[in-house]
Amino acid sequence: MKIPHSFSEYTEAYRESVANPEKFWAEIADDFRWKKKWDKVVEWDFHKPEVKWFTGGKLNVTENCLDRHLPARANQTAILWEPNAPQEPTRKISYRELHEQVCRVANMLKKHGIKKGDRVCIYMPMVPEVVFAMLGCARIGAVHSVVFAGFSSRSLVDRINDSQCRLVLTADGAYRGDKKIDIKGIVNSALDKCPSIEKVIVLQRTHTPVEMKPGRDLWWHDEMAQVAKECAAEEMDAEDMLFILYTSGSTGKPKGMVHTCAGYLVSIDYTFRTVFQYTPDQVFWCTADVGWITGHSYIVYGPLSAGATTLMFEGIPSWPDMGRFWHVIEKHKVNIFYTAPTAIRSLQTASLDFVEKYDLSSLRLLGSVGEPINEEAWQWYHKNIGKEKCPIVDTWWQTETGGIMISPIAHVTKLKLAHATLPLPGVQPVVMDERGNVMTENSIEGRLAMRFPWPSMARTIYGDHQRFKDTYFSTFPGHYFTGDGCRRDEEGYYRITGRVDDIIIVSGHNMGTAEIESAIDEHSAVAESAVVGFPHDIKGQGIYAFVICYQKPQEEEKVKNEIRETVAKIIGPIAKPDKIQFVNGLPKTRSGKIMRRILRKVAEGDVANLGDTTTLLDPAVVEEIKNGAV
Ligand code: WTA
Repeated sequence: MKIPHSFSEYTEAYRESVANPEKFWAEIADDFRWKKKWDKVVEWDFHKPEVKWFTGGKLNVTENCLDRHLPARANQTAILWEPNAPQEPTRKISYRELHEQVCRVANMLKKHGIKKGDRVCIYMPMVPEVVFAMLGCARIGAVHSVVFAGFSSRSLVDRINDSQCRLVLTADGAYRGDKKIDIKGIVNSALDKCPSIEKVIVLQRTHTPVEMKPGRDLWWHDEMAQVAKECAAEEMDAEDMLFILYTSGSTGKPKGMVHTCAGYLVSIDYTFRTVFQYTPDQVFWCTADVGWITGHSYIVYGPLSAGATTLMFEGIPSWPDMGRFWHVIEKHKVNIFYTAPTAIRSLQTASLDFVEKYDLSSLRLLGSVGEPINEEAWQWYHKNIGKEKCPIVDTWWQTETGGIMISPIAHVTKLKLAHATLPLPGVQPVVMDERGNVMTENSIEGRLAMRFPWPSMARTIYGDHQRFKDTYFSTFPGHYFTGDGCRRDEEGYYRITGRVDDIIIVSGHNMGTAEIESAIDEHSAVAESAVVGFPHDIKGQGIYAFVICYQKPQEEEKVKNEIRETVAKIIGPIAKPDKIQFVNGLPKTRSGKIMRRILRKVAEGDVANLGDTTTLLDPAVVEEIKNGAV
């Protein structure tokens, strides 16, 4: 695989990828292990929309992540696992051992009737077994749907039912700093409402006593002991589903983004090697949770496909103290460190002693993902962690894109503070004006879209292709619309300015405002609510809720806390509003649409610039809202 190692190689690869995408991607795809080569590299029509890559090709993703590294890398560490508690031993799982464990999971699933195409829900802590679980599904062609273990039981119900999962892989509990999370209890309460689930396989992690339902629930260790350590890899069509991963949308219901086998594998491997300039024997650490796309692509599939050593961390950055990340880097001699701006901002608030205590000289490069990285965090990260020697790759991408799209290539692309810089080879961004015209010049600002497909793009929303079309392909017909705004400067460098729809990014996590509103509305005192984002020092954006109650609450603080708990119960603690303001009305247009622009200004504390409010049904409500801002 030809990876660009200099700026001229990058520009050459980029030029080729636009001039002849088929040839460009075919050369990359050639390096994988295929059971049968493809007939056609790409077939696409953004109007339908329909996108297919490597049609007619047959392969299995796990053969590419495991078997093809054997025997050469049999003893190399594939997963380097750092537990929540620093005194607990590290685990090192070699490629040979990983192969064995994945085959056992695959056989365990088969034993319980899981076949190609069946959906399996994975609701597990950050332990190596979650990777065995994902790849175990992929081995036999089952489709995994990993649900972040911080989501509530209600969220789990919605996700399981939406994709009709047959089986859940979970654990007795999870450690999170000094807390234990009752994962199995959450699963138990969800499953009363999930008729499609036949079996639950439970890993022992915390050894907390849990309720096991006879006939349905089984222990992971018992089941794994009964099955063989070899399992032939199912032959998968290039376009067969590999996984579903839910992400928030502008309407209440989360979207099950569907990724397929070959295109995803090819893009993720290529972007991993290119952006991070990975060289053999380096230790790569991505701090995301596997429950998010970043974890899927750059803890699991990218590094393993590239034969890398991927570090997986079970704990949190602030426990036992604010030096934990830096301790882990020293302990495992991490070379590449990939994290989120929100983590940097929170660690930046701690004393520098926590950083200086540790030897970070193994670091070669740093990465950032999930939201725009602000200049202050960039500077702090660059100076104190990278010691001004490590480039920072600010990688822009989405659950929908599967892999990194716009990003510097480490040591190759000139860095520009807070800019995602340039598109990777194979990525063809365009900037649109409000009317949907492509702006071809530089020094412009508009909306970011793509005019050509890339292999790892999501193919549909599970069970709702119309919504896929409406969400991504109807704003600018013939283009994929990202939902983000951006600037392109005089040199053609991109700076992502944030979402232009009703999605807010809180601590790097996508949240649909509609989803939070409907959770708030479930509190019995609440008549209506409107949620917007506001700038937050650590989280990037915080959640500000304007709430109308049937009757003005007597004890405001008590009701606010209850509302927060309601949201935590329905979605998960990450969605709790930071600020709640009780109001008597919301600014609505005559057609009944909430003018969020006004609410955003109030939430930002910029009440002097509310703009035109004359089109409102009742301009008086704005005065009240302004005066009551919290
Ligand atoms: C935002 C995470 C600016 C963006 C991989 C995008 C970013 C959304 C960056 C996708 C970045 C992600 N700079 N904004 N480097 N990376 N975003 O699906 O708004 O969880 O649309 O995927 O995060 O979030 P998602």
